[in-house]
Amino acid sequence: MTAPTPLIAGNWKMNGLAAALAEARAIADGLGGTTARVALCPPAVLVHRMSEALAGTPVLVGGQDAHTETSGAFTGDTAAEMLADAGASLVILGHSERRATYREADDLVAAKARAAINAGLEPIICVGETLDERESGRAIEVVVSQTRGSLPRELAGKAFAVAYEPVWAIGTGKTATVADIEEVHGAIRAVLTTTFGDAGATVPILYGGSVKPANAAEILHAAEVGGALVGGASLTAKDFLGIIHAL
Ligand code: PGA
Repeated sequence: MTAPTPLIAGNWKMNGLAAALAEARAIADGLGGTTARVALCPPAVLVHRMSEALAGTPVLVGGQDAHTETSGAFTGDTAAEMLADAGASLVILGHSERRATYREADDLVAAKARAAINAGLEPIICVGETLDERESGRAIEVVVSQTRGSLPRELAGKAFAVAYEPVWAIGTGKTATVADIEEVHGAIRAVLTTTFGDAGATVPILYGGSVKPANAAEILHAAEVGGALVGGASLTAKDFLGIIHAL
């Protein structure tokens, strides 16, 4: 069985003006001989310019969300096909900030994943428990249920990734212990292999939540960790490269 190729993706969230494209170039210039696939997911309006700025480099560009429909009267939304047209090859879906702020539920995330696949994008589907859910001993149950509900069958045979991001670890400086990460990633892997058979073993499961150069090696080398989804530390080349080179 082939081990997943690690994916290290930067989630710029609502950060970055055109001037930040220089940072993206610096990331591409500093990749060296990394074995990871590296991606940057800027705000939608920067996708096209970032794709042009990174043309000819191995850095992939992704969106941070996509609508379920290909076009129509959805003011303010972006279709997966539009992201692909602008040069994206991946898209983050179901991030906890969208699940919390826009009440995105598992079935909506699954519908977005179908739309992403139809547009030829590789979805990175996020799951993760809140602090309350962890403290009440329900972390595994919640993550397993989110994974089952957010991954449509149409992902079979397609490239996609799952990102485990404990909500309480995002942007807080707190990270889960390696033991907790391995336990949750193991549970996600079990869902993947049950749903997709042998192919489920090759899906990268990323960890996210306050990943930094200082903790990246320990996290990236944990069992069943197939890369990282990095927020704050992906905004500067120095920190993001520090994480990439910790692999
Ligand atoms: P963080 O964000 O690395 O800033 O904690 C991760 C994410 O939300 O994807």
